[in-house]
Amino acid sequence: MDPTAQRDSWLAQVAAAADEAALAAVETRLLAAEGELTQLLRLVTSLPKEQRPAFGKAANGVKQAVEAAIAAARTGFAARALQRELALPDFDPTEAAPAPRRGALHPITIVQNELVDLFTSLGFQWQDGPEVESEYFNFDALNIPADHPARESQDTFWCEPIDGGRRHLLRTHTSPVQVRTMQRFVKEHGPGPLKVIVPGRCFRSETVDKSHEHTFYQMEGLVVDRGVSTANLIHTMKTCLRVILERDVQVRLRPGFFPFVEPGFELDVNCPFCQGRGCSVCKRSGWIEILPCGMVHPNVLQQGGYDPEQFTGFAFGMGLQRVVMLRYGIDDIRQFMGGDLRFLRQFPEVPR
Ligand code: DAH
Repeated sequence: MDPTAQRDSWLAQVAAAADEAALAAVETRLLAAEGELTQLLRLVTSLPKEQRPAFGKAANGVKQAVEAAIAAARTGFAARALQRELALPDFDPTEAAPAPRRGALHPITIVQNELVDLFTSLGFQWQDGPEVESEYFNFDALNIPADHPARESQDTFWCEPIDGGRRHLLRTHTSPVQVRTMQRFVKEHGPGPLKVIVPGRCFRSETVDKSHEHTFYQMEGLVVDRGVSTANLIHTMKTCLRVILERDVQVRLRPGFFPFVEPGFELDVNCPFCQGRGCSVCKRSGWIEILPCGMVHPNVLQQGGYDPEQFTGFAFGMGLQRVVMLRYGIDDIRQFMGGDLRFLRQFPEVPR
């Protein structure tokens, strides 16, 4: 009897097993205690002594071949199961890893950077100021006395008094840096021409909704010189809006009340969404209020150390979120501080 007679048939059965369960069935049929291969091996004892070694050797060879085929098939099933799990059908370990995302600048930063570039090209200098501000710079120096209703329109986060007397607060606007800058300039150089921008974070105790945030960004501008006029103000604002809204703009001035400017204006641009025809964004008016501004009040110039008989100036306070919302068509101010990565990932990745 030839112990290898069934070898190929058995190997074919192993190869035909489509999955782990089918393989286990073949294994039992061949190798269990009463399995076909086990029985073949047992035949050895019934043979004449001289035939046993050759038969045993051949039968064992068949057994090893079958066992090796089963082990290989089993490894194959396990590897394929792992691949399915990792969803890496054609995993190539030598391939270069995909470059990680670099992250994007926050849209407020993008627009702020553009504004800073623009204004520095026009000769303005960047100024910083403290976010924890004194009552004096935030209000008094800006011609807003203690009993002035304008204080109530800016719901203020007050700080616990630490030095027993003067009260501090989280600045409600970037305007306090106006008088800070004038005072420092006059101290260092005497009264003279001044052109600064002050981008920065401001805080108000607001109930947060679609268009209100307790933490927001402004960019203050201040120009002081001899003979500065409203025409200079309008020209500067038009240039700025044209660059930032990336189109030619029409503007209009309406009277606006702010204690630190006289006259004060609300500057409107023609609505970028409907080109002035009237839509829901501009509330059918064709105009969008974008930039409060005005001619610096004589009292404020005086607080800064300038003689209002000799110097005039203009100032503006741009709400950066508002500009960003117009520019990118964002309709909910809460997106800016919401930390939702899907929102942030829409902006261009930082270049390598
Ligand atoms: N500080 C004002 C605010 O936050 C905005 C403002 C209005 C700033 C008129 C100015 C200005 O510089 O001239 O409501």
